[in-house]
Amino acid sequence: MEILILTDAQAVGRQAAAIVAKLVERNPEAVLGLATGASPQGLYAALADRVDAGLDLSKVAGFALDEYVGIPREHPESYAQVIDRDVTRPLGLDPRRVHVPDGRTADLEAATAAYDREIRAAGGIDLQILGIGENGHIGFNEPTSSFASRTRVKTLAPSTRAANARFFARPEDVPTHCLTQGLGTILEARQLVLVATGQSKAPAIAAAVEGPLTSMVPGSALQLHARATVIVDEAAASLLTLTDYYRYTADNRPVWQVVD
Ligand code: GLP
Repeated sequence: MEILILTDAQAVGRQAAAIVAKLVERNPEAVLGLATGASPQGLYAALADRVDAGLDLSKVAGFALDEYVGIPREHPESYAQVIDRDVTRPLGLDPRRVHVPDGRTADLEAATAAYDREIRAAGGIDLQILGIGENGHIGFNEPTSSFASRTRVKTLAPSTRAANARFFARPEDVPTHCLTQGLGTILEARQLVLVATGQSKAPAIAAAVEGPLTSMVPGSALQLHARATVIVDEAAASLLTLTDYYRYTADNRPVWQVVD
């Protein structure tokens, strides 16, 4: 696992965007996994700057990491709307190439299986963008999610609903269920880039990066991936114990590994 510790959230977003941009410059039809929440906003903003400077994302495909169940697609906090508002439109993606699990269908089981099939039919995800919840969840894979899990319906932990309530008018408006790419689905992506900033994520980052491989910390699944990069600011890195080593290795990477 590659750990990059940067000075602040803006630097985290710029570094993550540089990695995405390098992928797309090599493969204009790259398939991206798209995360929501506050953490990837810096990445998307930095990508928008690159789009303004000429980066062409119009042939990129996108697959959302997760979606709520039971709120209308046009609800401002449905992830379909969030992805459209924060990613598809500002980054100039083709809406026909952006996919979000269907949290509104009566047959959720069929929708989850269909989503995994859609990802496979697209050739798999080249780079999955991830955040991490304070309880260590990635996507909506809550603690004790199986590392082999597929896209499926999950019940949100009360702490996750509380953390996401900031986006809703009333706490009770936060959906109870969601569809999420499973940890097994996420681990099939060819590259993972997890971004986290702020002191509130320090315990989850320390547990995911340096803690044991345990379903109690779904983010620890990144330890199983051959190509996972964790990009954090000083605050989110503050509980890591090998920070000197991470900084040393980042400063002494072979030149071809440096992306900026
Ligand atoms: C939600 C999303 C996750 C996200 C997490 C943390 O649960 N489903 O994909 O990583 O929140 O969000 P934030 O980055 O806003 O802290």
